[in-house]
Amino acid sequence: MLSNAEFVRDRIRTVPDWPKPGVMFRDITPVLQEPRSFRVLVDIFVHRYMNQGLDLIAGIDARGFIVGSVLAYELNLGFVPVRKRGKLPYTTVAEEYQLEYGSAAVEMHTDAVQAGQKVLVIDDLIATGGTMVAAIKLLQRLGATVTEAASIIDLVYLKGSDAVRATGTPVYSVCTYE
Ligand code: PRP
Ligand code: HPA
Repeated sequence: MLSNAEFVRDRIRTVPDWPKPGVMFRDITPVLQEPRSFRVLVDIFVHRYMNQGLDLIAGIDARGFIVGSVLAYELNLGFVPVRKRGKLPYTTVAEEYQLEYGSAAVEMHTDAVQAGQKVLVIDDLIATGGTMVAAIKLLQRLGATVTEAASIIDLVYLKGSDAVRATGTPVYSVCTYE
């Protein structure tokens, strides 16, 4: 009998050599496509984060929006997007992070979070951790208490989740790849 996390992991598709040779891309679209695995996945997060006194769910652009918004709905919480640079219309704060070549930035609206709110930040996957760490810094600059960083997948060998933990934020991932 598979555990719920194993049931989800079984539906993650590995695409070799995408987007470039040598990369094993972990693709969550089959998990989302099948109603049972999508529900099992969301319910894992619902059970973990219900009755935790959270105020808000912050989802990271773009795949973090998929589970983050459903989770917020199920927990009867608001959802705020952490977006890639240049997408948000109102006044924003930005946090840059380094890519293999160059840099990127995530942004949030200045009024997305009230000081002292307890926020869960969620994405589909932690690789180098750059995106998640930048999102946490941004939320903290807005005065949030980031209670945990959640993802469907942790590519443990890239040590991104260690980098996230080094910020003092706990990490929870449904599936790990060693
Ligand atoms: C992927 C993934 C995470 C991030 C993880 O998003 O969805 O957000 O990379 O990588 P890191 O831990 O090394 O920062 P991507 O930038 O490919 O954007 P997308 O969601 O718009 O496809
Ligand atoms: N899957 C999805 N997104 C990613 C991956 C992956 O394997 N690596 C970096 N971002």
